[in-house]
Amino acid sequence: MDLRSDTVTRPTPEMRRAMAEAEVGDDVAGDDPTVNRLEATAAEFIGKEAALFVPSGTMGNLCAILVATRPGDALVCGHLTHSAEYEGGAPAAVAGVSVRFVPLTPDGVLLPEHVQSGITPDNVHHPRTTLVILENTNNRAGGTCTTRAQTEALADLCRSRRLWLHLDGARICNSAVRQGVPPAELAAPADSVMFCLSKGLCAPVGSILAGSAAFISEARRKRKMLGGGMRQAGVLAAAGLVALTRMVDRLAEDHEKATRLADGLAECPALELNRALVQTNMVYFALRSKRAAAETMAAALSARGVLCYAAGDRIRLVTHHDVPVEHIPLAIERIRRCAEELA
Ligand SMILES: Cc1ncc(COP(=O)(O)O)c(C=O)c1O
Repeated sequence: MDLRSDTVTRPTPEMRRAMAEAEVGDDVAGDDPTVNRLEATAAEFIGKEAALFVPSGTMGNLCAILVATRPGDALVCGHLTHSAEYEGGAPAAVAGVSVRFVPLTPDGVLLPEHVQSGITPDNVHHPRTTLVILENTNNRAGGTCTTRAQTEALADLCRSRRLWLHLDGARICNSAVRQGVPPAELAAPADSVMFCLSKGLCAPVGSILAGSAAFISEARRKRKMLGGGMRQAGVLAAAGLVALTRMVDRLAEDHEKATRLADGLAECPALELNRALVQTNMVYFALRSKRAAAETMAAALSARGVLCYAAGDRIRLVTHHDVPVEHIPLAIERIRRCAEELA
């Protein structure tokens, strides 16, 4: 049972067929018809003027940071935001941008007043704050959702302070499905948005960066600079098209699996788990006794065939397409036994 991440999903048979049959060309020259179709489809899907196919979410976020900032600037984001904490220090290392982390609400929402507290004063001593990054769903908070209204509130602040609002929507489709709204609705207030095809949507490779035509034209230059200009990338884009058109609605099944998992684990007295944070496809829990480190428990679970990651002092489980629903009771039972042994 591989519950480490939704990134472990493999391409579906339909994707493999589409990949084998994809029409291709040199995408750096703009000649790949399948990439062009994916970018047009993705732009419409996410409600932006233009879109760019990038090899990874990390590169999509970095292209956005490079377009929205200049070296020496600062960006503001929530505690443990992926693009600042889990992408190799790229904002500092590549874009020359310092990161100002601000708190999130307990349910993983970035509020304007928190962002406000992270914005540097406008004088010669400080870096210029030029960018805010919002993550929806928020991974480390638990796969939690931010609403359109909450995003609007951030966008209002950004407009009034002349800050770029970038949405790391790696799992925006999970958020949209959970909230019963189109992904474009959640992305509308943001200046740019990145979302991943290679996570719950099962494509083998790739993410989308979207925004205005002028923004994407600049982002395309940054992608090339970073080595992300791909040639016959239509082979990958073909799977991305299947991801976008066939795999979004079924994310509800992944959420249902996570809910069942959380319901089962919440009944284990040895475990600590906040049910309110289980909103999409992630379940975080900890050993109540804290006698064993999260890494110890993750290793013990993996040895029992329940692959998972430790995240700080908790364990993270992620449900996805390749976890059959019948495995959920089995996972609960193995985790319960393991927790009792370690408690
Ligand atoms: C919230 C979030 N943003 C960005 C990324 C980066 O995506 P990639 O692994 O494709 O670089 C991830 C990856 O897990 C993520 O969880």
